[in-house]
Amino acid sequence: MIDTFSSPSDIEIIKQRKKEGIDIPLKQNVQAKTTSNYLEYVKFIHNALPELNYDDINTSTTFMKHKFSAPIIIDSMTGGTPEAININGRLAELAEKYEFAMGVGSQRAGLESGELAETYSVARKNAPTAFLMANIGGAQLGKGLTVESIKEIIKMIQANALIVHLNPLQELVQPEGEPNYKGVLEKISELVKKLDVPIIVKEVGAGISKEVAINLEMAGISAINVAGAGGTSWAAVEKLRAETANDDLKIHLGEMFWDWGIPTALSLIEVKKAVKLPLIASGGLRNGLEVAKCIALGAGMCAMAYPFLIKAAESKESLFKFTDIILAELRSTMFLLGAENIPALENSRYILTGDLAERVNCG
Ligand SMILES: Cc1cc2nc3c(=O)[nH]c(=O)nc-3n(C[C@H](O)[C@H](O)[C@H](O)COP(=O)(O)O)c2cc1C
Repeated sequence: MIDTFSSPSDIEIIKQRKKEGIDIPLKQNVQAKTTSNYLEYVKFIHNALPELNYDDINTSTTFMKHKFSAPIIIDSMTGGTPEAININGRLAELAEKYEFAMGVGSQRAGLESGELAETYSVARKNAPTAFLMANIGGAQLGKGLTVESIKEIIKMIQANALIVHLNPLQELVQPEGEPNYKGVLEKISELVKKLDVPIIVKEVGAGISKEVAINLEMAGISAINVAGAGGTSWAAVEKLRAETANDDLKIHLGEMFWDWGIPTALSLIEVKKAVKLPLIASGGLRNGLEVAKCIALGAGMCAMAYPFLIKAAESKESLFKFTDIILAELRSTMFLLGAENIPALENSRYILTGDLAERVNCG
């Protein structure tokens, strides 16, 4: 059985950690410093004769047998602290109204108390029909989290799918982290057999390589979210937490590995070539043009975390306004490519340049 936080003081500690997990990305700069998501190296070929009416552009798509109004996912972020109720509540309203998919943050905390469970279940309350994804860490599976507990977290939000996040870098730098990933793949393949919802595996900002993708495909999972480097850095978040904890080694490791990982576009291209699984692109996506590029590179859906967090923390109005801009950027890109719908966008022509082209050619 995994370690529990059942005493009141343990629950206070976990609440505090979850609060820092939102406050640090909101108030300090924990974005990539010296790397990018590499999407600037993807250049679309402009279409001067698009032969379509902007108003007829259709961004709807089907992914994992579910229909969405656009290929957009609100990526897994929060829960486990009272501050998360507002944020998850607003994000869920967005998911429901815009027919997007949404993930909640790691739900281990929600297993420990009813009060914390509500910080996640608010998502289902505000999004009764949306495609919601439960979330648990691969490291927790490795440590022996039971199938019953996993079923409980799925039930907590009546999830349509379970996300298992892989975060070896975060576990390494986190002051209280446990960098032990032994047996995680085997646990994932056991879970596939025992759950009746699909399993999506994601990174948290360091990307998935082709070798990892092949192993995950063999384990029987349903989709991969590459969550590459170029956006929010969890080495950075944990480095800042290590500063508060006066943990010099973790501060050093956090600085050293701040930009570690496979840039999103590179991860997406290599995973696409290696497996047949449906793919989600994420890691540093910040606008609708980048969403369009990822669809053309082979992603079925695109996820964003940090941009939705900032807007959700501001207000529901700014969250919805931001989303309208992202959708207008996506539709504008489709117009300039002459792509009336998502299948046409998937077939749009682009060229790879710079470091991305070089690294793709290196195999
Ligand atoms: C505040 C915050 C909390 C996060 N918590 C989780 C989590 O609990 N589980 C998870 O799988 N990913 C988590 N992530 C990672 C994101 O889902 C995403 O993979 C990563 O941030 C890269 O996307 P971005 O550059 O758009 O932020 C979190 C990200 C943010 C910004």
